[in-house]
Amino acid sequence: MSILDYDTVSLDDANSALVIIDQTLLPNETKILHLTEQKDIWDAIYLLKVRGAPAIGDAAAIGIYLAAKKIESKDFDSFYAEFKKAKEYLDSARPTAVNLSWALNRMDSVVLKNKDKSIEEIKEILKKEAIAIVDEDIFICKQIGLYGVTLFKDGDGLLTHCNAGQLATAKYGTATAPMYIAHEKGWKIKVFSDETRPLLQGARLTSYELHSAGIDVTSICDSAAATVMRNGWVQCIFVGCDRVAANGDFANKVGTSSVAIAAKRFGIPFYVCAPSSTIDLNTKSGKDIVIEQRDGKEVSTMWYEKPMIPDGVKIYNPAFDVTDNDLVTGFVTEYGIAKAPFDKSLKEIVEKANNKHK
Ligand code: MRU
Repeated sequence: MSILDYDTVSLDDANSALVIIDQTLLPNETKILHLTEQKDIWDAIYLLKVRGAPAIGDAAAIGIYLAAKKIESKDFDSFYAEFKKAKEYLDSARPTAVNLSWALNRMDSVVLKNKDKSIEEIKEILKKEAIAIVDEDIFICKQIGLYGVTLFKDGDGLLTHCNAGQLATAKYGTATAPMYIAHEKGWKIKVFSDETRPLLQGARLTSYELHSAGIDVTSICDSAAATVMRNGWVQCIFVGCDRVAANGDFANKVGTSSVAIAAKRFGIPFYVCAPSSTIDLNTKSGKDIVIEQRDGKEVSTMWYEKPMIPDGVKIYNPAFDVTDNDLVTGFVTEYGIAKAPFDKSLKEIVEKANNKHK
C-alpha cells in the first residue's frame, strides 16, 4: 500500500472520530490517528500532525461537527453558544492559513441558516457540510491540476517548496496536482523538491508522495534552489499558499519568497496554486497577514541527536513568509488562472466561488 492510498483527512462517524495520518512521523512510520477529543484535534493541527492549508480546513470542518455532535443542549441559543466556543477554540490552533477560519465560518453559517430546525437536524446538516468541504477539496485540486498542466510541457523541470501535495489536501494536492496529471498523461517531468527547513515538509512529504507515484523527484536543500535554476533545470515553479491577500501578496511556507526572488532573476514562471478558499479579500496586502511564530527547538534540536545551535543563542522561527505580488506570474485556481492586476482577477475568482455557494 502506498502513502497515496491513505485519506489525508476523513470522518469516522460511527466512532465520532477525525481520522488523520500523523504526518510528523512520515516518511518512516505511517500511523493513523482516530481523534475524538477537541484538545487532541487542536493539538494535531498545532503540531502539524495534519497540516497544509486545505487539509487544516477539512480537519477543522470535521472537528467542529464532532464538537457539535457532543453538545447536549436542545434549545438553539445554548447549542449555538457552545458551538461558538468550540469554533473559537479550533480557530486558535494556527493563525496564518485562512482555510481554518474559512471552513469554520462556513460551518457556522449553515448553523445560522438552519436555526429553525431541530438540534438533531442541525447536527446532520453539519455532518453533510463537513463531508462536502472535503469532497469539494478533491474536486478543486483536480481543477487546479487541469489548469496547471497547461503551463508547462513534456520533458520540463519543475520546482516546488514545502508540501502542497496530497498530504496537504484531501487528494492530489494543489502544487502537485499538475504534476500528477502530467504523469498520468505519460509526460516525463523532473521535479525538484526543496527540503523546506525547519520541519522538512518537502523532504519528508513531497519527495515521499511524488516518489511513491513514480514521478522523477530530486530532493534539494533550500539553499540549492537558485543553483538548479541557474543550471537551467527548472522551466516552471508551482507553490501552494496559506493566505492570498486582495492585492495578490501571499503567505506560504517560509522560504517561498526566496524562491520567487530567484525565479524572477532567472526568468522562470512562478505560479501559486490557490483554491478560492485561500483567497482572503478581507486582508488587503501582505502587511496584514499574521505570520505564525514557532518554537525555536524546531530549528535547534528537533531533527538532531544533539542540539545544533549553542545554548543561549536566540532563534527566530517564522513558519511562513510573504511573497510580493509582482513576483507572481499567476494564481492557479479552480476557476482558472488569475493574472495581474490581481486585485481585479482575484475578486472575480472569489465572486465565482461565492455565487456557487449561494
Ligand atoms: O506549516 P504547514 O506544513 O502547514 O505549511 C504548509 C504550506 O505552507 C503549504 O504550502 C500551504 O499550506 C499550501 S497546501 C496546499
